[in-house]
Amino acid sequence: MNAREIRPGIFWVGVNDRTTDLFEGVWPLPHGVSYNAYLVIGERVALIDTVKAHFAEDLLRNISQVISLERLDYIVVNHMEPDHSGALPAVLRQAPSATVLATPQALPMLASFYGITERVKPVSDGERIDLGGKALAFHHIPFVHWPETMATYEETERVLFTCDAFGGFHALDGVLFDDEVEVWEYEDEILRYFSNIVGMHSRPVLRAIEKLKGLDIAVIAPSHGLVWRRDPVHILEMYSRWARMEALPEVTLVFGSMYGFTSRMAEAVARGVKKAGLKVKVLDAARTHVSFLIREAWKRKGLIIGAPTYDTGIFPPVEYFLRLLERKRLRDRVVGVFGSYGWKGGAVDKIMERVGPLGWEVVDTLGFHGAPSPDDLARAESLGEKVATRVREAASVAEAI
Ligand code: FEO
Repeated sequence: MNAREIRPGIFWVGVNDRTTDLFEGVWPLPHGVSYNAYLVIGERVALIDTVKAHFAEDLLRNISQVISLERLDYIVVNHMEPDHSGALPAVLRQAPSATVLATPQALPMLASFYGITERVKPVSDGERIDLGGKALAFHHIPFVHWPETMATYEETERVLFTCDAFGGFHALDGVLFDDEVEVWEYEDEILRYFSNIVGMHSRPVLRAIEKLKGLDIAVIAPSHGLVWRRDPVHILEMYSRWARMEALPEVTLVFGSMYGFTSRMAEAVARGVKKAGLKVKVLDAARTHVSFLIREAWKRKGLIIGAPTYDTGIFPPVEYFLRLLERKRLRDRVVGVFGSYGWKGGAVDKIMERVGPLGWEVVDTLGFHGAPSPDDLARAESLGEKVATRVREAASVAEAI
């Protein structure tokens, strides 16, 4: 993509990445991702963030479409993760007058990641820099996503550059702004990004929103995904809702099955949920990448987990899912657990050992031996009904508050 002016004197100069298979080496990118960087041009010129090192040439070409690289006075590093800082050494080599601006916490990272110790100026929380016709103010927002992170606000055009905050997966398919797409088509990938990358920092996200909401914001310009100019409040509200653990009054059912017995029970549980009048999304943990399982668990209030016993513990794909949910700190879920065993039990107890410390509300548990009997299937249906009923009650209480 070419450089594009987003407001007078402010240009997007980022890149689409459609070749990286796994973001951070872990998370699949079926629709790609963008690394957004921006130029702010006053009498002096600032580049806001860079891109992943592999795309440095594309970034340099985009900047050159707008200004000569020698004109760069500042490179603002909102966040040090290499998807945004990787091209920094390449830019610095071609911008001899540029000074790097970053939080004090970023300085040891600049030194260790790239050996950058000179032409660096730490900026304090609330500090301003006058570019002549444009002005930048720096707002530290630690842990959205790393401890050194900040957001940068351009005062004359009221653009807030937020780096990871308010970003999402999904490359920019010939578009840049929220008013150029059907936003709902991007929302699942924004939530998958939020829940997998930023979700464990939900409290810092809420603190950041509280801190930044006093600014007069016309545009939210993150470093992944859409630029929000028609409705910046929409992305703020989505992030706020997800960080507060608000969810749909529906049920996510994640199960694993070796020979079909647990799968048969999963079908009965799903019938029970539906019988109680709620929607249920059923996902096979062994055949669905865990990043999608995490997203679906984040989306709905009800969560039912089913697994056979494996090596006297939890079927591994389900165990991995639970470990990651624990790490991502998903809270406030209404839960049901079911599990099978062939010769020795274990799965249900081990799931409960993991679920207990998370503080979720466990409505029902159910273990069964071998092939599910008609009685087991009836109990599975009842488990689904109980979880659904409790989810509906919790939703009514939430609405009443
Ligand atoms: Fe997009 Fe935390 O980097």
